Amino acid sequence: MSRKSLISIRDFSKEEILHVLETAREFEQNKVQNFLEGKVIASLFFEPSTRTRLSFETAINRLGAKVIGFSDASNTSQSKGETLKDTIKMVSNYVDMIVMRHPLEGSSRYASEVASVPVVNAGDGANQHPSQTLLDLYSILQTQGKLEGLTINMVGDLKYGRTTHSLLQAMSHFNPRFIFTAPDELKMPKEYKDFLDSRGIEYIETDSLNEHLNDCDILYMTRVQQERFTDLMEYERVKDVYTLNASMLGEVRSNMKILHPLPRVTEIAQDVDDTPYAYYFKQAENGLYVRMAIISYLLGYR
Ligand code: CP
Repeated sequence: MSRKSLISIRDFSKEEILHVLETAREFEQNKVQNFLEGKVIASLFFEPSTRTRLSFETAINRLGAKVIGFSDASNTSQSKGETLKDTIKMVSNYVDMIVMRHPLEGSSRYASEVASVPVVNAGDGANQHPSQTLLDLYSILQTQGKLEGLTINMVGDLKYGRTTHSLLQAMSHFNPRFIFTAPDELKMPKEYKDFLDSRGIEYIETDSLNEHLNDCDILYMTRVQQERFTDLMEYERVKDVYTLNASMLGEVRSNMKILHPLPRVTEIAQDVDDTPYAYYFKQAENGLYVRMAIISYLLGYR
C-alpha cells in the first residue's frame, strides 16, 4: 500500500498537482466510482469544519470506501488525556488512510510520522490546507483555462490564512503575479514573501481593496479568523476591514472570478453572489472531485 501523505502542498511536485487536477476532472464527469470497496478511511476533525469534512466524507462514500471518525474531539479519549500520538497510532490500526484537521501547526506532519497509513492534512492551524489548495487550483484552471501567468489578488487575513499560504506555494509553479491586500495587522508573513523572492515571483502589497480590484484574474477573498487571534481587541479592530459588494465590480476584468475558501462572514456581501464573477459555491463543489482524486492518488489507485 502507498505510504505517501499530503501534509503540505510542497509534498506534491508540479506533475503530481497536474495529475490530481486531471483525475478530478474525470471524477467530475463520473461522480460515482466504487474501486475503494473494502477500504476504511478515518475522518478526524479536532476543529470545526463544514466543507472539508463533508466533501472528504462524500468523496470516501462515492469511491466505495467506508468512513469512521469524529467531528467533535471532546467525545473522544483526548478528553481523558490521550495524546495525539497514541490516538493516531490506534486509528492507524483500523484504517487505510487518515484525514485530519487539528488546530496545532505541525500536528499533521507529526501524525504522518507516527501513522502507518497515509495522512491527509485537512488544515493544521494557520499553517497549511493542501486539499483546499488543490481545489482552488482546479477552480482557477476551470475558470481561466490555464494556470500560467495569472494575477492573483489575495485579500483579508493573509497572516493566519492557511489557504493563502498553501495557494501561494502551489501557484509558484505557474509564473504568477500576486497582489496582497491586507491591513498591517494581517499582512502576508515574511517567510512566504521570502519564498516568492527566492523564486523571482513578483508581488505587491496594499491595504486598499479598491486599488487593484480591476487588475487581477482571481480575487481570492478570505475571512478574518477570530479563532486564530490571541488578542481579541486586535480582532475587533480588523474584523470588518473589507467588504466586497456588487457595486465595486463595475470595471473588473471580464474573466475575473472571485474565490473564497468559505465560510464567509462580512467580507463578501450577498449581492455579489448573483454576479457573473462569484465562483465560491462552485469552488466548494469542486472540493468533492478534487478530494476523490487526492484519496485515489495517495492510495495508489489513479
Ligand atoms: N474551506 C474550508 O476549510 O471550510 P470548512 O472550514 O468548512 O471545512
